[in-house]
Amino acid sequence: MIKPHGSKALNPLYVEDDTKREDLMKEAESLPSIIICSAAAGNAVMLGSGYFNPLTGYMNKANALAVAKDMRMTSGLFWPTPILNMVENPSAVKDAKRIALLDPNVAGNPVLAIQDVEAIETYTDDEMKMMTEKIFATNDPEHPGVKAFNTVGKTGIAGPIQVLNYSYFVTDFPETFRTAVQIRDEIKSLGWETVVAFQTRNPMHRAHEGLVKIAMEAVHADGAVIHMLLGKLKPGDIPADVRDAAIRKMVAIYFEPNTVLITGYGFDMLYAGPREAVLHAIFRQNMGCTHLIVGRDHAGVGDYYGAFDAQAIFDGITKDDLQIEIFRGDNTAYSKKLGKVVMMGSVKDHTKDDWVFLSGTKVREMLAAGQDLPPEFARPEVAKILMGYYQSEAAKK
Ligand code: ADX
Repeated sequence: MIKPHGSKALNPLYVEDDTKREDLMKEAESLPSIIICSAAAGNAVMLGSGYFNPLTGYMNKANALAVAKDMRMTSGLFWPTPILNMVENPSAVKDAKRIALLDPNVAGNPVLAIQDVEAIETYTDDEMKMMTEKIFATNDPEHPGVKAFNTVGKTGIAGPIQVLNYSYFVTDFPETFRTAVQIRDEIKSLGWETVVAFQTRNPMHRAHEGLVKIAMEAVHADGAVIHMLLGKLKPGDIPADVRDAAIRKMVAIYFEPNTVLITGYGFDMLYAGPREAVLHAIFRQNMGCTHLIVGRDHAGVGDYYGAFDAQAIFDGITKDDLQIEIFRGDNTAYSKKLGKVVMMGSVKDHTKDDWVFLSGTKVREMLAAGQDLPPEFARPEVAKILMGYYQSEAAKK
């Protein structure tokens, strides 16, 4: 089976042993504590789940700057985005060696993790600017990822963590939230060797479904893992429970039985395009997949990235740094001529009118107006679930 990133075995930071975890929970009550930001909580959940193997906690400034600049930690480990615990005001934990990290996303702010404080470092404006530009390829404060990154404080608390729960993800998505350890174990027990991962933050339309099937066929996959983001999105994106229901329906009807695992991970969307694609690749390798699909405008938003920038970034990455392979998906769409979804570059003699293509804005407008989506664009069963969501939202207004 494919090895985890940077180590022989996965080292998830969740404390598995019940007694040890309860003891740590008790210890946390007497520790100085701080409510962390949502991004830092997502990092804790990913570290706890084994997805961010082999990291042992939040990065210090030297590592964060090195990673932002060259995608490499000071140890030489390949890593594409700083993994930080940024706070506005560290005074409550300033002199402590060990601190309790409180969950901002669960009522009552329960303890999410315990951190050993190695360093508390404030970033200069120039350092914040450099990191932002490198991670997001823009400094535009309107970019949702740039905005999130620059509004949670400039002081990083660095050091290893012990994770005590998975925030709201297990309770809210019991059927879908899975750790990297669980997915790796499941792939192993299914005996799958070649496994394609599909990243998504959207409900899956026929172009997405077609892309997964094309990739599976091209690499002779034993199975696919649909791995959806369950954390926070920008306003206007479709909530995870609706996407989850739509994806489950689509897989049940339109995929071969026992060829797809439907799973999700607890992390907020960065919208960092190419850099996020590399992070996606690392954590899909950690969960045991041999391939990651990267299609058009992967992890993108607006017009910030070129349609295939998130594929091009992998040109400069060698097998020494990343073992998972990238399946580069061209634009996929339904061809009226062929009666199926294909990669647009793979067919000849097509004009614009031969394709069924709808923009995201158009899809939202149609659903909000109660208009059915064309069956060539979305499976009717999927469209029905989305329509239900848009209509209930409209009724609230
Ligand atoms: S993402 O932010 O998670 O990347 P989304 O859920 O829309 O967004 O896309 C999931 C995956 O499908 C990404 O790899 C994306 O590049 C790919 N993708 C989505 N739509 C298309 C399309 N029409 N053609 C090719 N690839 C696509």
